[in-house]
Amino acid sequence: MFIVFEGIDGTGKSTQVNLLADALRQQGREVVTSKEPTDGPHGTRLRQSADTGRLSPQEELDLFHLDRKEHIANLIKPSLERGAVVILDRYFFSTMAYQGVRGFDPLEIRRINEEFAPLPDHVFILELDLDTALDRIGVRDGEANEFEQRESLQKCHEVFAALDDDFIHRVDAGQTPEKVHERVLSHLS
Ligand code: TYD
Repeated sequence: MFIVFEGIDGTGKSTQVNLLADALRQQGREVVTSKEPTDGPHGTRLRQSADTGRLSPQEELDLFHLDRKEHIANLIKPSLERGAVVILDRYFFSTMAYQGVRGFDPLEIRRINEEFAPLPDHVFILELDLDTALDRIGVRDGEANEFEQRESLQKCHEVFAALDDDFIHRVDAGQTPEKVHERVLSHLS
């Protein structure tokens, strides 16, 4: 089983990854958790570039794809093949959203990814209003980058909102982590 958590920054994805992993381990399953960008060489460059801003949108997109290809080959595929549950914090739906904001066509990004990236069985989109999300990530009203951040996150939200596949589940992330976790479990059962 292959499960992905998606959503804009501040929605609490990593908390939900951990809560779900614990719950499934208690049922006796082997669970592998991971995130994108990864801590590998490409992911590390991407995180650095987020701080220094030196990569072009195209270089950035290429690196996300390289990072994902390695992630699939080294971790995702082998884990799924031996029957483990894989739970990810972000996957190619984030590329559709965030690189969509950087000017690429989200549907074209999806088409490229589907050529090499296995489809998840379940994708949980954690949904949160923008004010709460910005508050949680520490962006305050009137701050220099507030408007820019708000605009990008709003566009990301719109890409996530447009996803409409059977494996997509939307969960209100404004509730307590425990309540969000309960909703996730109820979708899986
Ligand atoms: P995030 O999960 O927020 O990591 P951190 O724990 O370091 O805050 O992801 C880092 C950023 O990477 C986030 O703003 C979204 C972005 N991102 C993309 O732009 N494209 C992608 O394909 C992925 C997976 C992430």
